[in-house]
Amino acid sequence: MRSTNIFLLCNMLGIVHSITVTVPERSVNVTERGTVFLACTFTTTAPTKNLIVQWFFTENLGTGQSKQILFYEGGTTVIIPAFQGRLKMLSNPAMTKNATISIDNMQQNDSGMFSCEVNNMPDIEGRNEMTVVVNVLVKPSAPYCSHHGEVATGHQVILTCHSKEGNPPPTYTWTHVKDGQIKGIQDIKKGTMAIQNISQVQFGEYQCVASNGVGTASCTIDLSEEINDGVIAGAIIGALLFCGAIGLLVWVITHQIKKQHKMKVTKSLKDSEMQPMKASRTTHQVKEDGDENPAM
Ligand SMILES: *[C@@H]1O[C@H](CO)[C@@H](O)[C@H](O)[C@H]1NC(C)=O
Ligand SMILES: *[C@@H]1O[C@H](CO)[C@@H](O)[C@H](O)[C@H]1NC(C)=O
Ligand SMILES: *[C@@H]1O[C@H](CO)[C@@H](O)[C@H](O)[C@H]1NC(C)=O
Ligand SMILES: *[C@@H]1O[C@H](CO)[C@@H](O)[C@H](O)[C@H]1NC(C)=O
Repeated sequence: MRSTNIFLLCNMLGIVHSITVTVPERSVNVTERGTVFLACTFTTTAPTKNLIVQWFFTENLGTGQSKQILFYEGGTTVIIPAFQGRLKMLSNPAMTKNATISIDNMQQNDSGMFSCEVNNMPDIEGRNEMTVVVNVLVKPSAPYCSHHGEVATGHQVILTCHSKEGNPPPTYTWTHVKDGQIKGIQDIKKGTMAIQNISQVQFGEYQCVASNGVGTASCTIDLSEEINDGVIAGAIIGALLFCGAIGLLVWVITHQIKKQHKMKVTKSLKDSEMQPMKASRTTHQVKEDGDENPAM
């Protein structure tokens, strides 16, 4: 209300005070640990005796809360602790009409919107605030390579690769080290590669490269034929030993059974040698009797 009154008064007096804040770059990229320059200049028709410059920071590209990080008035600059020692006002804005700042050692969580706001009473009209979007670029950290599924002919094997850090988010490419070729179905965003029905020619070393335009990092993993052969050899040796043991057991048992059987057979032979003789004699007698009977 009062501002409007002053504005009307100025208009009536024929004096139009106007402020214009300009930022040459609306979006800035800076690498992690690097220094960012946030340029901001202004024009004002009034003397800069009552100049106030403020910088605000909003985390995560506007989703966070806006907080004041710098306040300048009458030659005095106040900077909040989180930015102390690394944020600098590069000139005296009251003299240069230049409110450019620099921030050293930028971290990933310094990504966000930085706003430059200038007030210079009695300038109250015009554009007094402008925003710069800062993106802190981080090269991918060394990725972690792993695989899931049995490395054996005919099985499905899934390779996975992931970097903990990286901005923008890295993409991942899996290649067979031997011939540099892609041997499965890749998801470059997730970092996976699925090898269906793996065959001998697909065994060997694989490399994953994580890249995001800022840098690259890689890891390798061995889908080893050797380990697989070892397992097979072990299994064969194990099987042979098992068979050997079974064979021995079977031999021992059969030997034992044969021995007992022989003894039984001998014993029963002895028995049968005697009994049939008796029997046959009896039979014979009967037969003889019988024979004799019909003859009678
Ligand atoms: C900043 O980096 C992003 C991602 O790498 C890129 O797309 C964009 O063009 C860059 N912007 C500037 C101003 O360099
Ligand atoms: C504002 O100040 C910065 C840092 O001192 C400088 O690089 C830039 O050229 C200045 N801008 C103008 C328009 O003078
Ligand atoms: C940003 O991360 C750094 C460590 O990398 C930490 O010291 C600082 O407090 C964080 N800042 C905010 C605003 O979370
Ligand atoms: C797996 O691969 C072998 C040899 O290439 C082929 O004979 C077989 O049909 C395949 N099995 C499946 C389920 O695709």
